[in-house]
Amino acid sequence: MRIILDTDPGVDDAFAIMYLAAQEDAEIVAVGSVHGNVPAPLAAQNALRLLELVDISAPVAIGAALPLAQPLQTAEFVHGADGLGGMAGPAPRGKPVAESAAEQLVRLARAEPGQLTLLALGPLTNIALAVLLEPDLPKLLRSVVVMGGAVTVPGNITPYAEANFFHDPEAADLVLGAGFPDLTLVGLDVTEQTQVGEEWLSAVGELRGRRAEFANGLLDHYAGFYSRMFGRRSCTLHDPLAAAVMLDPKLAGCREMPLVIERTGTHTRGQVLADRRVLANDTHIVAAGADRTPVKVAETVDVPRFLEQMLDAVKVR
Ligand code: RIB
Ligand code: CA
Repeated sequence: MRIILDTDPGVDDAFAIMYLAAQEDAEIVAVGSVHGNVPAPLAAQNALRLLELVDISAPVAIGAALPLAQPLQTAEFVHGADGLGGMAGPAPRGKPVAESAAEQLVRLARAEPGQLTLLALGPLTNIALAVLLEPDLPKLLRSVVVMGGAVTVPGNITPYAEANFFHDPEAADLVLGAGFPDLTLVGLDVTEQTQVGEEWLSAVGELRGRRAEFANGLLDHYAGFYSRMFGRRSCTLHDPLAAAVMLDPKLAGCREMPLVIERTGTHTRGQVLADRRVLANDTHIVAAGADRTPVKVAETVDVPRFLEQMLDAVKVR
């Protein structure tokens, strides 16, 4: 699978890159950074650092510095000032490319129509900009997997909205309404099920090697944040689960439904709105987004199989 990765590293983004690097059937063709956990330029620096950690050579393009229609908000309080739980270390050897992440995405999609899969692990600003630049993008990509949203469970950054969608509601709504024929949403509905506790953390703690030691530094920070927030050392592996579902769709059980993002709610901006009613066929359906291309919403996931794969990926020397 040839992948364009759009990401805001970010501790769990780092685990997604380690996960992908350990999969023989995954090739990271290019990376775009986006604001979210940290500003886009730092996200690009971290993406370069992570690709060097896992010995992958791929261009990294700096993406959108701001959301489409709200001030920049970042999440260093979760991921650390350097975005990698204090593990960023020295500057990467590589440099970002000159073009923006949106331009890189459009150029590659046009160059290889129907061949590339987009994995979006941060706010969807770059993807939205790419659709505005190239309205045929939904026809040019092979498939899209998005980590974002919360359909049947509470949000995380607010009680109603998940962080990636909250950081750019307009972009999320534009992408979910753009007509991508094969878009899978890996939201908190399934990622929250991957919350790991002491047993998994200890299993990683026993591992040796560059990737394992880096992973343990990330987990020390991330589990520490969860401990302060929720009272126990744990953490949720949102982004690597999205990567795993992209490579093996059988990991998740999905239900197709059109989605809309709330943009004007005083308290609910960024919330995912889904019409989950089971209606008789002849009922006139009045629901926002009823005319939209349905999205595959992941509702169940094989957590043990994913966690075993994630542990194996960290073991790689
Ligand atoms: O809500 C979780 C998502 O927001 C993850 O992608 C995490 O990295 C943050 O970007
Ligand atoms: Ca992310």
